[in-house]
Amino acid sequence: MEKPPLPGSDIRLEGYGSEHAALDHAFRIIDEAKPPKARHRGRIVVCATSDLPPGEKRVVQDDETGISIGVFNVAGEYFALKNVCPHLGAPLCLGNVHATHRPSPVFEFRPDLEGRVLRCPWHGWEFDIVTGKALYDANSRVASYPCTVDENGDIVVSL
Ligand code: FES
Repeated sequence: MEKPPLPGSDIRLEGYGSEHAALDHAFRIIDEAKPPKARHRGRIVVCATSDLPPGEKRVVQDDETGISIGVFNVAGEYFALKNVCPHLGAPLCLGNVHATHRPSPVFEFRPDLEGRVLRCPWHGWEFDIVTGKALYDANSRVASYPCTVDENGDIVVSL
C-alpha cells in the first residue's frame, strides 16, 4: 500500500530542494500564526515601558502560579513567552535573541525576523518571539501570553 505524502511534501519551489520546501512551509506557519488569547488566570505587572527599551528582555515570575515568563521588547512592541523550553525544559528566555534567514538558493542570503528569534540556551532550538512558534518544527511552540501597556505606562502580561 502506498504511504500518504508528508505535510508540505507537495511544495515545489524553483531552485529549492525538499529541505528548503520544508523550511518554507515552517515559515509560512509562522507568517500565518495568530496572536495569543488571554486565559484569564491573572495578570502580572512587569515594569514601566521606560525600563524595557527595544531589544531588551526581562524574566519575571508570577507569585501565585510560579509561572516564569520572559517579556521582550521587539521594535517597540511587547511579547511574553513561558520561560520553559518545550524540548527539555530549559529556561528558554535566558537564550539569545537574533535573526534568521529565509530559504534561498545557494550563495544567496535572505536575512529576516531581525530581533525576534529566541534561541534556547541548552540545545539551540529557535522560536519566533512574536508567535511562540518553533522555526524548524511546525508542530512545536512555546506558550505565549498577551502583553499590553496599562494607563500607568506599565507592561502587563495576561495569564
Ligand atoms: S531544552 Fe531547549 S532546545 Fe533543548
